[in-house]
Amino acid sequence: KIYSAQTIKNPADSDDLLCVWETGKQIPFDVKRIYHIGNVKAGTVRGHHAHKKLEQILLCPYGSIEVALDDGTEVKNCLLDSPDKGLYVGPGVWHTMKWIESGSLLLVMASNFYVEEDYIRNYGKFKEKFPGETS
Ligand code: TYD
Repeated sequence: KIYSAQTIKNPADSDDLLCVWETGKQIPFDVKRIYHIGNVKAGTVRGHHAHKKLEQILLCPYGSIEVALDDGTEVKNCLLDSPDKGLYVGPGVWHTMKWIESGSLLLVMASNFYVEEDYIRNYGKFKEKFPGETS
């Protein structure tokens, strides 16, 4: 699911864009952690994991990043190419993020602190736990 920021325009500058994300409004969970990944070359693919419980909103405030989401049944792609677009990634979704443009920034708002035990980093184990409808 795609969430949209509240956007505020400054009448004095038609090009600027202020994006607001608030818990309970544009974000469906309490945010406990924010992290961002930058200085990444075009073509780089990161992620390759799923979470057991963590909920996240992925944003690309600058540049463009393509996210692939695999729920065990099908893979869907989502292009984050606008700063007001936030992609919800919940538990049980194997995801990868591909940098389309060098220097694109990935900003993530997460429902919990960093817990390594919440990660599933092996695709075979992911499929065992989340076999999907077709398997
Ligand atoms: P990882 O989530 O695997 O990055 P990506 O999915 O973008 O490739 O994280 C990379 C490393 O950073 C890994 O060793 C875990 C560590 N890390 C933290 O210590 N805290 C954090 O909040 C995050 C997101 C990662």
